Amino acid sequence: MIYKKIKDDILYAGLNDKDRIIFDELIPLDKGTSYNSYIIKGSEKTAVIDTMYPKFTNEYIKSFDENGITTVDYIIANHGEQDHSGSIPALLEKFPSAILITNSVCAKNVQEMLLVPENRIKIITNNEEISLGNKTLKFVIAPGVHWPDTMFTYIKEDNIICTGDFLGAHYIFDDVFATPSEDLEKSAKKYFAEIMMPFSTVCRKYIKQIKDLNVEMILPSHGPIHKDPNYILNLYEDWAGERGKNLVLLPYVSMYHSTEEMIDYLAKKLKEKGIDSVKYDMAEGNLGDLAMALVDGTTLVMGTSMVLAGPHPAAFNTVYLASVLRPKMKIASFIGSYGWGGDLFGKMAEMLAPLRLDVIEPILVKGKAKAQDYVKIDRMAEIIYEKHHALGLV
Ligand code: FEO
Repeated sequence: MIYKKIKDDILYAGLNDKDRIIFDELIPLDKGTSYNSYIIKGSEKTAVIDTMYPKFTNEYIKSFDENGITTVDYIIANHGEQDHSGSIPALLEKFPSAILITNSVCAKNVQEMLLVPENRIKIITNNEEISLGNKTLKFVIAPGVHWPDTMFTYIKEDNIICTGDFLGAHYIFDDVFATPSEDLEKSAKKYFAEIMMPFSTVCRKYIKQIKDLNVEMILPSHGPIHKDPNYILNLYEDWAGERGKNLVLLPYVSMYHSTEEMIDYLAKKLKEKGIDSVKYDMAEGNLGDLAMALVDGTTLVMGTSMVLAGPHPAAFNTVYLASVLRPKMKIASFIGSYGWGGDLFGKMAEMLAPLRLDVIEPILVKGKAKAQDYVKIDRMAEIIYEKHHALGLV
């Protein structure tokens, strides 16, 4: 466990989980993650904001004695997911007079998922405050970043906000304070892509709200603390924005390289027109890289071989991920190659339908692309250029 003073009577109490290599069994983690809990010692009462991933409960509970924290009056649950709420029952047991404070949605979650007794919970409403003596905690209910039960806790006198998962990153550190770096930005972006991107509209609302507060520090539940709040707020503002970049995503899977050759040709033609593209190998690639690319792309062109009369399963995986992450993508198409026949694009187009993309006529070839197929790819590049131009991207 790491204990570190953040400011007078505000302590970080969390740990680095260096061994965690995947989160939600979905996105590989480059650098593990941290689980952040905060202890706020007021002149009369002590509060703990968010707790610990269940695997580390014993270590977490022991750390209170080891660090001289002998009283806890309030446990604040900003979010019910168990990487933060998992140690609530053990903490309530250790401090029998402590009360769990949370919103009504999160209260239901912790009762059902962690069997927290109702008589140990106080439900608060939006903007309600509790006093710790010389410090006041104000609760901002912020549903949808990323669960319906999420809220922030604002420490008024210190002008510090604890934002739960929002504005976090799967990242580990020696110093709990963020040092801007490419690595941190990449980890925060992957994290945003996986858990926040589907809620970009809601994110924009809370980015603005926190910017307007002009807070001194942001204390998230994963990753480092931001002493320069605008660093992470500006990144989130860009990622959650409505406008994509002049970028075409080219996820592909190719059994005999026919599809890959067409994707490469399209990338070359797009480059000639001043449009960036990024290739992604759906059979072997890291889903986190794809998720990150989805944050920025305006156009998606899927390249897939036919397998048993339909798209390669890796292509379904990508299309499904794109459909649930709800990126800001506007335009889509498909390129594919087959050996003996089937429906290559129908089901994928159906899965992408909820994104309401502007679909360009797909290109389907038997085996290798011929001269007339390359003419069609030229035309596809031209149409993408026209559409990006119309959007003011190129
Ligand atoms: Fe880090 Fe939604 O839990």
